[in-house]
Amino acid sequence: MTVPSSSPLPRIVILATGGTIAGAADARSKGGYNAGAVPAETLMAAVPGATEIAGIAFETVAAIGSQDITDAVWHALAHRIAVLAAREDVDAILVTHGTDTMEETAYFLHLTLSTQKPVVMVGAMRPSTALSGDGPANLRAGLMVAAHPDSRGRGILVVLNDTIHGARDVTKTSTTQVETFQSPNLGPLGYVTANGVAFLRAPGARAALQLPPAPLPRVSILYAHAGMDALLVEAAIAAGARGVVLAGVGDGNAARPVLEALAEAARSGVAVVRASRCPLGPVLRNIEVSDDAAGFVAAGLHSPAKARVLLQVLLASGITAPDAIQAAFDRTE
Ligand code: SIN
Repeated sequence: MTVPSSSPLPRIVILATGGTIAGAADARSKGGYNAGAVPAETLMAAVPGATEIAGIAFETVAAIGSQDITDAVWHALAHRIAVLAAREDVDAILVTHGTDTMEETAYFLHLTLSTQKPVVMVGAMRPSTALSGDGPANLRAGLMVAAHPDSRGRGILVVLNDTIHGARDVTKTSTTQVETFQSPNLGPLGYVTANGVAFLRAPGARAALQLPPAPLPRVSILYAHAGMDALLVEAAIAAGARGVVLAGVGDGNAARPVLEALAEAARSGVAVVRASRCPLGPVLRNIEVSDDAAGFVAAGLHSPAKARVLLQVLLASGITAPDAIQAAFDRTE
């Protein structure tokens, strides 16, 4: 990887992982496409003015749809970003990624990387071959954010649809629309406008955890529903889950048999975190569920997917006691 060293512009390395942004049409249906088929260099060639924003180098970490992202890819990506960020001839890193699990990769990187240099993730909802694909505009906006000095020290930033999101808050909300990424509780960190990059607020605190080795401990998410019984809790424990995240109803609640099975799991040393299937609002301790008595952790503003990532990293780091896990969740609010 050679970053153009003569460039007076910020030097940005693009790490490609695949996704719809690199998707190309195939014949399976009118809208069908293969994720990750197009190299990042080809995508960037469609971005007007890219070489006036930054000196750019390219690397491929993976070429997959993000539904197939694994701990091993997370680990390889985090390790590569850490190595690049330590280099004096690299000013920022831009990661291209599928939108489906971008929020999880972003949070994993946010928790485990400590660089102050901008690390920005972009994707697209429409493949590169689509009429009015959103990839080129998102790549350009991502480059602008990565090149901007105010992006330093903000952790991992997710940029789509001219909107800048923080890794802890951002979530994909629409299966199809280009404005799919939202930060439902706290709102976006900023915007990319005709005048440049504008930040509105700082992101939440970073946990500054070490990058754990892959594979991460198994943590299952259990989606609560009316009439739920303990079957899925028992199945998760039998499969060797070291942690369980409840995507609970309302304030992270569940039917009595589920809570009893979770309390039993907590007594046997399984970490149990209560999150909510509601997209808005925190899950607080000891409101409807007696967390102190059951040994549960309340997820606060972490969605079930984010809570799972944090819990995996904590368990992999040897943080297993419920009060220590709760403290880490509270610290990352
Ligand atoms: C993926 O997540 O890789 C496919 C969907 C997308 O990128 O929008």
